[in-house]
Amino acid sequence: MMQRRPRRNRRSAAIRGMVRETRLTPDQLIYPLFLVDGMDIQLEVSSLPGNYRWSIDRLLPEVEQCLELGIRNLVLFPAIDEALKDRMASHSTDPNNVYLRAIRSIKERFPEVTIITDVAMDPYSSDGHDGMVEDGKILNDPTLPILGEMAVAQAQAGADIIGPSDMMDGRVGYIRDALDEAGMTDVGIMSYTAKYASAFYGPFRDALDSAPKAGDKKTYQMDPANRREALIEAELDADEGADFLMVKPALCYLDVISEIKRHLDLPVAAYNVSGECAMLLAASRNGWLDYDKAMPEMLMSIHRAGADVILTYFAKDFARMYREGKLD
Ligand code: PBG
Repeated sequence: MMQRRPRRNRRSAAIRGMVRETRLTPDQLIYPLFLVDGMDIQLEVSSLPGNYRWSIDRLLPEVEQCLELGIRNLVLFPAIDEALKDRMASHSTDPNNVYLRAIRSIKERFPEVTIITDVAMDPYSSDGHDGMVEDGKILNDPTLPILGEMAVAQAQAGADIIGPSDMMDGRVGYIRDALDEAGMTDVGIMSYTAKYASAFYGPFRDALDSAPKAGDKKTYQMDPANRREALIEAELDADEGADFLMVKPALCYLDVISEIKRHLDLPVAAYNVSGECAMLLAASRNGWLDYDKAMPEMLMSIHRAGADVILTYFAKDFARMYREGKLD
């Protein structure tokens, strides 16, 4: 006779509910929002349906809707007018730029929201790279003061957590010092620790018009073939004072998420990036996949791999399904 029958624990929804190992709630999600200067703008990103470039006036009701759905953590990205971009990304610290104004407006209306920022030169850079470019090279150390100033400007505008996404060496420590010297010891850092040179950022670069003008990002973002190297990045970021360690993208890098989770004690975040979201949206629109089933399965896989927190364009839909009890 068979003594062990694992199917006994799958017999009913109630039993499956008891033995479920992983649970995901809207508390654990971060919703990305794109911003653009102007008034009354809600422009859909064609390669990322259901996601928009918002002007600040239209963004505020959207934030309110997120809060109603139980999403309290937001990450913001700016689409900057080409005419305002330069080599040094100098517009990034202009207190009147759309990004810093948006942070101030959101915090004023909704102080309970967590605002996570993006620190990298690319949205403001005429070269479209995350660091400063000279003779076709991305310079590391001269980029750091620019990142430090950007982080302080964001913190002064009211940001809660700074998100360095640029992959320059030493930036977490540099930004930590800059924030502390400016008296912002309570502002956290969610470091894009293991950010890979991935093809899955395409729709995001469409959303922001932020693709590199020349070359690629392979001299600073990680090689998709590497896993152990992610641990070097994670140890450095932890030593330099990061509060969260992020893996990006998520789905093709679930092993990296597990590895970092196993070796370090900081909370692990994973960015379910634009291309991962676009794949599922495209297949669902063609009738090839069932969105309501595949989407929560994707998010659950990222959580199961070890991500405590997930940045995802699916956050609102997930929160809606969660509230309506449609996730079982
Ligand atoms: C830029 C940045 C990128 C993303 C977040 N911050 C793109 C890039 O590195 O080229 C991608 C996010 C996504 O694809 O959803 N520093």
